[in-house]
Amino acid sequence: MKVSQRLDSIAMSGIRKMFDMASPDSINLGLGEPDLSPPRKAIDGMTLAAENGLNKYGPTAGIPELREAVAKKYSAYWSGLKGKNVMITPSGSSALLEVAMTIIDPGDNILVPSPGFVIYGPHAKLAGGTFTEYRMSGPGFQPDIDDIQSKIGKNTTAIVINNPSNPTGSVLDEETHKALLDIAQDKDLMIVADEVYDSFIYEGKHNSFLPYLDRSIVVGGFSKMMAVTGWRMGFLMAGDDMMDALIKMQYHLCASPNMPAMYGALAAMPDIESYLNDARAIFRRRRDLIVRRINEIEGMHIEPPKGAFYAFPEYDLDIKSADLAMELIKNGLVCTPGSAFGSYGEGHLRFSYAADEEKISKGMDILASVYTKLRKERR
Ligand SMILES: Cc1ncc(COP(=O)(O)O)c(C=O)c1O
Repeated sequence: MKVSQRLDSIAMSGIRKMFDMASPDSINLGLGEPDLSPPRKAIDGMTLAAENGLNKYGPTAGIPELREAVAKKYSAYWSGLKGKNVMITPSGSSALLEVAMTIIDPGDNILVPSPGFVIYGPHAKLAGGTFTEYRMSGPGFQPDIDDIQSKIGKNTTAIVINNPSNPTGSVLDEETHKALLDIAQDKDLMIVADEVYDSFIYEGKHNSFLPYLDRSIVVGGFSKMMAVTGWRMGFLMAGDDMMDALIKMQYHLCASPNMPAMYGALAAMPDIESYLNDARAIFRRRRDLIVRRINEIEGMHIEPPKGAFYAFPEYDLDIKSADLAMELIKNGLVCTPGSAFGSYGEGHLRFSYAADEEKISKGMDILASVYTKLRKERR
């Protein structure tokens, strides 16, 4: 049977491929999935909703109480945010696809970060457009403003910014945030800001695009915030003028998001900051551990990432990241090759530290012994 050319033109995610190859007893630092338990109130809230018969379709944009609760939390970044500017979605991933389907026409080109999260480019293609990678550069992996400017063409309509970033863990600095806004203004571009890791910043502050909803759409998620990746719950935030179009898109995608899960997220929202304070302390300790262990390996280097839960070290051997990752998998450690995150990701590996300290330590033992052995053989 026929598969559409749009779908045929994109590859399966490299992250999933590695995950599928892992043996059940290997140390998995491949997937960005917090191992923490969700807030108790989230589970109770979801269960109670299902028991009370809230198992039917709901409002397309999500239940108003949750839209309001998200607006209240995110008004920390922009006090003007209202519930009507929030749409609950069936995951951050689907929010991003909905945005692509809503703003991209055939012939449009969008700029996506590289190294960057794997779905932005394919989403552009699924929507009938094209994409161009821009470089994340320097030790702090900031969007390279010169590179971006050189890649803006007459068909460029939007720029995707992921802050904090997967896979680099970088957090957008104030100067680059301003430069991006200036470019968007000058060239009349939309900004798609993927801010699903905003709750996980260990140093510095979050420079959100929420105050600029006149030309931005901001995507957020419950997956990482509440450690509920399996619930498939996210949200997006947009200005009044875009919201109707996005709701129309969501109607055609799913009619309405998961009702019991929305009530679960709602129940957890009032206490979420204390849950997140604890989660941040845990991830920060793990980050410090993995950074220390990586920097102890001769030939590997990482600057401490300021956000998300990924370590993206560089290494000095002349070996493709996919081959190095394969060597690690054979020795019982799953990670993701930098090349899975675009053409500027080569020469790096990504380790998720959303796993406990024992797993991280064991994983780093394997990394140290495999890399040191390879280095002896090859030098
Ligand atoms: C940068 C980024 N954006 C969006 C997502 C999507 O998350 P979800 O679909 O679970 O909300 C992920 C998941 O790993 C991610 O890393």
